[in-house]
Amino acid sequence: MPSHAGGEALARPRAARIVAFERLSDRHVAFEVADPHLARTKAGQFAMLWIPGVDEVPMGVSTVDPERGTAWFLVLEVGDCTRAMGRLKAGDRIGVRGPYGRPFAVPKAAKTLLVGGGTGTAPLLAAVDEVHATGGTATVVPGARTKDLLVWLDRFEAAADAVHPCTDDGSLGHHGFTTGKTEELLATGAFDLVLTCGPEIMMVKVAEAARRHGVPCQVSVERWMKCGVGVCGSCVMGDGVRACVEGPCIPAEVAERLPDWGHYHRGPDGNKMPLH
Ligand SMILES: Cc1cc2nc3c(=O)[nH]c(=O)nc-3n(C[C@H](O)[C@H](O)[C@H](O)COP(=O)(O)OP(=O)(O)OC[C@H]3O[C@@H](n4cnc5c(N)ncnc54)[C@H](O)[C@@H]3O)c2cc1C
Ligand code: FES
Repeated sequence: MPSHAGGEALARPRAARIVAFERLSDRHVAFEVADPHLARTKAGQFAMLWIPGVDEVPMGVSTVDPERGTAWFLVLEVGDCTRAMGRLKAGDRIGVRGPYGRPFAVPKAAKTLLVGGGTGTAPLLAAVDEVHATGGTATVVPGARTKDLLVWLDRFEAAADAVHPCTDDGSLGHHGFTTGKTEELLATGAFDLVLTCGPEIMMVKVAEAARRHGVPCQVSVERWMKCGVGVCGSCVMGDGVRACVEGPCIPAEVAERLPDWGHYHRGPDGNKMPLH
């Protein structure tokens, strides 16, 4: 498989300006970064974001604005680095590398069902644009535990052909998991492609549903990433699929052949950890 890691220039951190910053919930922020390389990101690729003195972590690019030369990130604050991102403001600088990884492969004129869970929904915004650019249609199923965590619903409603929000507690849209709504929509026979990004447990079930209905599916895998360019081996799945180079976006049937898919990932020291 060809590499999407980019050349040496993309492997070096660049200082990029934050040009817009929004707080979307108690724990979600979104910010727009000015960087000509990230502005050319394809749907599903990621960047490495560096907060000096804290950490450098992988982050999916949510959407890009090639005319402004910018890329948006949507971040859930879970630890030191993401909380430091939550304290950024317009005008600050952040270290960036990338874009890296394999994007979603969007065929021409696909009737596409895009299923997202939590912050994994964010990169699907760029995928909606790509589906439209190739003459297809985009139906989005975004899911979260409760309506306050269903961020960017307005942006999805503006961009997609149809949106079916799901909440675990029934506070907005379909009461239940995205997987139930996915099953219902696939049963209509109206789709010929499924793209999914979110918790692995959710993607396992989405991929199974797609297989039952005979619809090709691509998943976006997350593993512990250090280099982001295929050198360190930190993100390897199975016997050699690097999530940062062969992924993050891979056909579901490739993921399903990997022993760790749906079962475990590896921590920073390489030890196996059960999926949560
Ligand atoms: C390809 C990819 C795309 C991602 N896209 C997004 C996104 O769009 N929005 C978002 O909010 N989060 C995204 N993440 C997750 C994000 O990288 C972690 O939330 C972040 O690294 C946490 O760092 P921390 O210092 O805040 O927390 P920590 O306390 O250091 O870690 C909290 C948890 O985050 C994960 N994590 C920490 N460091 C890494 C690492 N180097 N590589 C992979 N996982 C790590 C682990 O599950 C860890 O248990 C993505 C991860 C990957 C691999
Ligand atoms: S993070 Fe994938 S090989 Fe280093």
